[in-house]
Amino acid sequence: MREKATVLGQELLGTTFQNPILLAAGTCGFGEEVSEVMELDRLGGIVTKSVTLEPRAGNPAPRVGEFRAGMVNSVGLANPGAESVRRDRLPWLRDRVRKARVLVSVAGHTPDEFLEVVSILDDADGFLGFEINLSCPNDTRRGGLPFALDPGEAARVMQGVRARTERPLLAKLAPNTPDFGPVVEAVQDAGADGITLVNTLPGLVLDPETGEPIIGAGAGGMSGPALRAVGVHAVWRASHHARVPLVGVGGVARGTDAIQYLLAGASLVQVGSASFWDPRSAGRVVKWLEEYVGRHAVENVSKLVGTARLPGSRGTPQEADD
Ligand code: SIN
Repeated sequence: MREKATVLGQELLGTTFQNPILLAAGTCGFGEEVSEVMELDRLGGIVTKSVTLEPRAGNPAPRVGEFRAGMVNSVGLANPGAESVRRDRLPWLRDRVRKARVLVSVAGHTPDEFLEVVSILDDADGFLGFEINLSCPNDTRRGGLPFALDPGEAARVMQGVRARTERPLLAKLAPNTPDFGPVVEAVQDAGADGITLVNTLPGLVLDPETGEPIIGAGAGGMSGPALRAVGVHAVWRASHHARVPLVGVGGVARGTDAIQYLLAGASLVQVGSASFWDPRSAGRVVKWLEEYVGRHAVENVSKLVGTARLPGSRGTPQEADD
């Protein structure tokens, strides 16, 4: 799978991503859904919809609502379940996606559910590795907060899946993490090969006329432009603790947004809700990056990673020390 890296090529997770731009989980289904409107093989990769052990019908409609600063969603992890994904979805990805790297997002209510999903999918073809969704704000672990908000629980899930697969594993974290150090260290010690930051931020948008929420489930996950500063900050904070590559996501719609994530320390960048407004957004971000690296005579895009110029080079002195 390893090919010679071009100027946009990124070598990580044991392979070459032809460029650093991926479609985020939940924005492209299992690829086929968006293949009519965009060329997936122009991208660095895609992350599938999150897969759970059993099929899930999802939350009541409307599942997505817009407001001035972005959107709020509560889909409830609707998906056909692991057996069906293995039988009906992965073969399409194997046959039709050649250059973009595919990561399968995995979710569950319990640590056992994650590892059962991984076990069912692991020996199928059509994908590179897994993104372990520890941070869905709409469908939390039974009786508690998302796994990502509890470093011990997050590590338990990652240790379990690490024992079931040799494929690359990303751990996807939450934006409302009070301190990124403990959870970043916990998931990488438990075997994560990379860390994705951030999932959506818990949010509630009310219709002032009716007093009702604009989406069927009530509260949901907020994304869009307002999430970008939160995501870039999370990547930068995580970079103080990470020994593994970081993947940035949140509010990316333009090339300049992706550059911010690279500068903050991300090696790959995912495009999320911008794809709902325009499915071609991710392709346009790739084109813009090509133009940017040419204009700045950057030898390879990896040279930009983690080069943000903050006061005290990696942050304020006390932040850099902790
Ligand atoms: C959902 O399916 O409700 C959102 C999934 C996520 O944010 O992880």
